[in-house]
Parts: sequence; C-alpha cells; structure tokens
Amino acid sequence: MERPKSIDRKYNAVITAVGMYVPDEILDNKYFEERLDTNDEWIRTRTGIRERRRLKEGATSDLAAAAVKDLLDSKGMDANEIDTIIVATVTPDMFFPSTACLVQNKIGANNAWGFDLSAACSGFLFALETAASMVESGTQKKVIVVGADKMSTIVNYDDRNSCILFGDAASAVLVEPTEDKNIGWKDSVLKIDGSGKDSLHMLGGGSLNPSTCETVAQGLHFLYQDGKAVFKVAVKGMADISVELMERNNLTSEDVAYLVPHQANLRIIDATANRMGISGDKVMINIDKYGNTTAATIPLCLTEYYRAGKLKKGDNLVLAAFGAGFTWGAGLLTWGMD
Ligand code: UT7
Repeated sequence: MERPKSIDRKYNAVITAVGMYVPDEILDNKYFEERLDTNDEWIRTRTGIRERRRLKEGATSDLAAAAVKDLLDSKGMDANEIDTIIVATVTPDMFFPSTACLVQNKIGANNAWGFDLSAACSGFLFALETAASMVESGTQKKVIVVGADKMSTIVNYDDRNSCILFGDAASAVLVEPTEDKNIGWKDSVLKIDGSGKDSLHMLGGGSLNPSTCETVAQGLHFLYQDGKAVFKVAVKGMADISVELMERNNLTSEDVAYLVPHQANLRIIDATANRMGISGDKVMINIDKYGNTTAATIPLCLTEYYRAGKLKKGDNLVLAAFGAGFTWGAGLLTWGMD
C-alpha cells in the first residue's frame, strides 16, 4: 500500500499528545547470564540491549491503560473526549473481548469505540495509518493509538535465542485533525507478506492449534523466531522501504530530523540508517533500556525524545518497522507539537 500523493483533503492528522508506561521490574543481562548459557557481552554486541522491563502482575490492558492515563494527564484531557481507541498488540489479554474494550473500561472512556490491530512489530505504524485515515476523513476527531505488549507472557525464558530480546511496555499517542497542511502524517508505504509465517510466530492457542496438553508440552504457546532468517529480511525490508519513502518525497538526509525505527536489534537499525545516509545522532534509540517491546517501541521513542526536548514542531520524522507476518513499512510524519 502506497498513499496516493494527490488526495485533496481538508484535514491532516497530527499527533497532539503522547504517553507511556514501563513496569518497574528491570531484567538486566546479568539476570540471563545467571540462568542460561549467555553473557552480557554477547547480548550487547549482537543486539544493543542492556536491560528490559517485565510486568509482574496484570496484563497488556494494564500497560496500555497506564500509558493512556499518562497521556491524558499530560494533556489535561478527560477520557470521555476520546472517540476511538486502537490498540496494536500481539499479546492481547485474551482472544476476546478486545484489549481496546478492556482499556476503554479501565480508563472510563464512555464515548469511545475501538478495536485491536494485529501487525506485530509494525502494529503501531499500521495503527497510526488507520487512525490518520479516520481523522483525515473528518469522521473522528480524537483517536488514541496505543502500542502495548506484555511479551514476557509469550517468551520462553529457557530459549536463549529469543528471551533476551523482548520486554514489556506500552505507549500511546493522540491523533487529531489540523487544517495546517505543513504538519502531521504525510505519507506511508506499508506491506505484508504471509510467506514469512514460518520464521516468526506463535503457533498455539489459535484455531489451527487450539490449546491442549500436547500443544503446551510442545511449547507452541511460546514465541518462535528463526533469528538469522528474520535478521536478513528485516535489514533489507526496513532499509529498502525507508529509502523508497525518502525518494517518493524527495527527501535528502538533511531534510530528516530523526529516523524512528522499530527497536529489534541495533545492527538492523544501524544498517537502515546507513542506507538512508542518516547519521547516528539522528536515530532514535532506546533498545538499550527496554529491548524489543513489539508494538510499543516506536511511540516509546517518540514520547521519550519529545519529553527530553529533542523534538520540535516541523521536524520531519521517518518511522520504520519490520515484524512478524511479515509486516513492514515506513511513514513520514512532520512533528506538530511545540
Ligand atoms: O522484531 C521483530 C523482528 N525481529 C527481528 O528483527 C530480530 C532479527 N534477528 C536478530 O536480531 C538476530 O538474529 C538475533 C539477535 C536474534 C541473533 O543474532 P545473530 O547474530 O543472528 O546470531 P545467530 O542466531 O546467528 O547465532 C549465532 C550464535 C549461535 O551459535 P552457533 O550456532 O554459531 O554455535 C547461537 O546459538 O550465537 C548463539 N546464540 C547465543 N549465544 C549467546 C544465540 N543466542 C545466544 C545468546 N547468548 N543469547
């Protein structure tokens, strides 16, 4: 999907508030060193991760609700003003009701509708495109997009290939209409390719393999990743699509204030930035602190960099992600908050 360049519309969709929540418990690399055949040096040099968070009690909706409450508090906004809640997640509290319903109830958003969106590590990007399309059409005025995942519930802590990578977190943005065409969501290129299903998945519990003692004994309720295979396609996928987005919009690296990449592996991030000609100081990074939080990584970066005073109105940001499916894409956002 490529956004048509010539749509004449009244509104642009712009991010007008941000929020985040990370649990208190920190699992540093030493934690894994003590339990598995791994070490801090391997994890840092191969992934860029130093520590990640784990939510002891509660579920993804608790992470998401806390992030939305943080957003509402910082904006001084009442939950009843929210029109729509989109929760991007691969770790919903349960199959149904949707996590969006549970979040709606927890924050008391009495006038909202909403739904979950499943696109793994590209979930936030896909949800932002969805929210922007709604807002641009004029039908929705205040859309909350949350990226939230409690990865610790699907990670096998005996599998050193994957357990060191993931963490728990949530982060949210508010998307509103603006008549200022200089700011907001400008363009996107988004893709899916289901032939990637064998490299990264969780096979158990769905209609293909309903949970039984056998599926549990086989570990099908855990995330599986063929790291090497995903690494190759992730590097190419994220870099190619980010460069395509820049070319479509006649952007040079000078025009881009920040690359905001999904935080799966520092080496994938560096390769993407290199292909785009973007220097390291213009790449948002927090993988060292949180690891891969799946749908939460991109809004978490936006929230932290904005709150640290590193983002200013008019900054062009390229958001890029790659994840299970495969799903991947890039989007161009001109920051609209002072
Ligand atoms: O977010 C969704 C998309 N996901 C991604 O983008 C992740 C993509 N993949 C990756 O980030 C990397 O492939 C990993 C970080 C998962 C692995 O890094 P790698 O450099 O590709 O390592 P590898 O899988 O090729 O393994 C190299 C060696 C292997 O040992 P042998 O076979 O060479 O003896 C692994 O068994 O490293 C071993 N290894 C470990 N050693 C110490 C794997 N995990 C660990 C570990 N500690 N935790």
